[in-house]
Amino acid sequence: MLNAEKTNLTGITEFILLGLGNPSELQPLLFLLFLIIYLVTISGNLLIIVLVVADQHLHIPMYFFLGNLSCLETFYSSTILPKMLSSFLTGDRIITMGGCLAQYYFFGSFAATETYLLAAMSYDRYLAICKPLLYASIMSRKLCFQLIIGAWMNGLLVNGIMMFLIGDLFFCAPNIIDHYFCDLIPLEKLSCTETSRIELATFLLAFILTVTPFVLTLTSYFSIITTIIKIKSSTGRQKAFSSCSSHLTVVCLFYGTIMIVYMLPDTPTLRHLNKIFSIFYTILTPLANPIIYTLRNKEVHKAFSRVQNKLTYFWKL
Ligand SMILES: *[C@@H]1O[C@H](CO)[C@@H](O)[C@H](O)[C@H]1NC(C)=O
Repeated sequence: MLNAEKTNLTGITEFILLGLGNPSELQPLLFLLFLIIYLVTISGNLLIIVLVVADQHLHIPMYFFLGNLSCLETFYSSTILPKMLSSFLTGDRIITMGGCLAQYYFFGSFAATETYLLAAMSYDRYLAICKPLLYASIMSRKLCFQLIIGAWMNGLLVNGIMMFLIGDLFFCAPNIIDHYFCDLIPLEKLSCTETSRIELATFLLAFILTVTPFVLTLTSYFSIITTIIKIKSSTGRQKAFSSCSSHLTVVCLFYGTIMIVYMLPDTPTLRHLNKIFSIFYTILTPLANPIIYTLRNKEVHKAFSRVQNKLTYFWKL
């Protein structure tokens, strides 16, 4: 018995990711679907980055944030989709221990960075709408840069602490993860060391990483909406609202689906639903962001046609 336990303790070097739990006939179809999603996500976000860098009119904090968010989302979706695509294609569901931990680290860090970046963007909108006279003096390029660096450092460092704690866990058989990527909770469940300390730490860190920026974002939007309601002219109201509506849509999509995933009770029947909803914030948010901005934001629209005109001009030369 002791021997068996020992081999179990030291034996695990890889995990099996069960994936979406779909029948294998669906693999090629799902491969195609997620490949299209991945390609559109990458090209949409790259398009936004190119526009923000190339178009002078977008050289203001709001679009610096947007460009950096697109950068982040390119990385974010690349932590999950390539592995998922390869297992749809080859049927190989094995991920090494190192690969699994790395996937969790980068996914978790980018997600944490995203929450802070979304909070910084809503603070930017708050200043622009509620304190328009002070906006230019407060939201300097320096502050903008500091907020962006702060979001990245925060995500990478705080999640680094989590990683340190998880690296200490022992994993025993069974090494089967009922998910399509190595997320924290499924990993914790597989551990055979006592996890109550880690669970407490996770809870506290998750609080820092998600609840704080969530409350900041919520407060900003609360002030924005009360200010917009008080605007007398309806065109003024519309103008103010349209300057933050794209961002508000992204925020609602991201937090709405995260909340559903983490608040649904963990029962076998709901677990499948849970996976479907995690697809929203892990895979569909990075896809939705460039689509929402390119379709709904007038400035991005205009920048797109300006850059297009420039390109056709150079083609003709
Ligand atoms: C990210 O933010 C920095 C500083 O605020 C800005 O200079 C840079 O252009 C942004 N990057 C992108 C891709 O938008």
